[in-house]
Amino acid sequence: MKQNLTIDGDRLWRSLMELARIGATAKGGVCRLALTDLDREARDLFKRWCKDAGCTIRVDPVGNIFARRPGRNDDLPPVITGSHLDSQPTGGKFDGAYGVMAGLEVLRSLNDQEIQTEAPIEVVAWTNEEGSRFSPAMVGSGVYAGVFTLDDALKKTDIDGKAMGDELKRIGYAGTDDLSKREVGAYFEAHIEQGPILEAEKKTIGVVTAAQGQRWFEITVTGQEAHAGPTPMPRRRDALVGAARMIDAVNQIGHRFAPLACATVGFVQVSPNSRNTIPGRVFFTVDFRHPVDATLSAMNDALKDACRGIAAAAKVEVEIKDFWYFAPTPFDDACVAAVRDTASRLGYPHRDIVSGAGHDAVYMARVAPTAMIFVPCRDGISHNEIEDARPEDLAAGCNVLLHAVLERARPA
Ligand code: GLV
Ligand code: MN
Ligand code: MN
Repeated sequence: MKQNLTIDGDRLWRSLMELARIGATAKGGVCRLALTDLDREARDLFKRWCKDAGCTIRVDPVGNIFARRPGRNDDLPPVITGSHLDSQPTGGKFDGAYGVMAGLEVLRSLNDQEIQTEAPIEVVAWTNEEGSRFSPAMVGSGVYAGVFTLDDALKKTDIDGKAMGDELKRIGYAGTDDLSKREVGAYFEAHIEQGPILEAEKKTIGVVTAAQGQRWFEITVTGQEAHAGPTPMPRRRDALVGAARMIDAVNQIGHRFAPLACATVGFVQVSPNSRNTIPGRVFFTVDFRHPVDATLSAMNDALKDACRGIAAAAKVEVEIKDFWYFAPTPFDDACVAAVRDTASRLGYPHRDIVSGAGHDAVYMARVAPTAMIFVPCRDGISHNEIEDARPEDLAAGCNVLLHAVLERARPA
């Protein structure tokens, strides 16, 4: 294998900046929610660039886009790399976009160097990774890996009641190529770390050994709507007061299971949301994360105990729905070693790291040998318009990706 083979870091950066124009926000970030017109624009651009790089494009029924560079032996299982093009409402330029553009840059570099591989290489853009417009997260890779049925995925609705299936058709990405049954040689995903560790330790590459587990809940608190003036305090059944105490309990659980637990309430709906009516109903979401499954279960128990106790004291009802769960996910030893050895060989400072975020790689790990490559991001900030990363770190991660992919796809 050519040891000195490198990607074109300037081209990678230019592609990221051009992609970031689609859905660009005033504060320098991106709002490109899944299956919106902006998502379609980003998909179209990705497809065009892949075609220009000589790829054939296939789209599966949940809208995942696979751009394929044939192998010399095209019947071999493909080596797949990629990530997602959708963003959070106040997202950054790199979350997801980096992994897709890094995959494309790998193909472009192989073309430049006229390197053929034995196995085909595919770059994938997964549908609805973020789980913001349609929940949960990682829906496209989840369908591909058989975690969700296609039917269930297509029926998922956004806050306005629009279904994923209808939105996929509307933007022209309800594909017909079902690729999910085939064998996959390996899956690699490059991503910004989205946390502070690599930057603090001055490491260029995070060798991702695992992703922590997650439990998401949907909680509905029901009290009674009543007039804000004539209703004496002791008679009230205020759903928002109950919910506020539960939200505080969520935060306390995060602290109780320190240092590794994460506990977040990111979405709240108050009904009727009128200044002078005591709220009768509150809906909110909970996102728990931990790298140890038993601790994640203990957090689950603590949440349910706390909510029930609070509800009784506040004279409200509470319904807790277990909405989504995936266990802490170790990545494939050989693929992880390939990332680690490549980083060492290329002279990049690196360390092993557990992913705090969810990624499509978590579901791909169920169907293929999988690993991830992290690069630092400024101040560890992500899911924020100010998300930033250095071109040289992005290029380094892409170089590691190139060599890891090449090792699995084998130069012909
Ligand atoms: C994905 O963005 C996540 O929430 O980890
Ligand atoms: Mn992401
Ligand atoms: Mn994200």
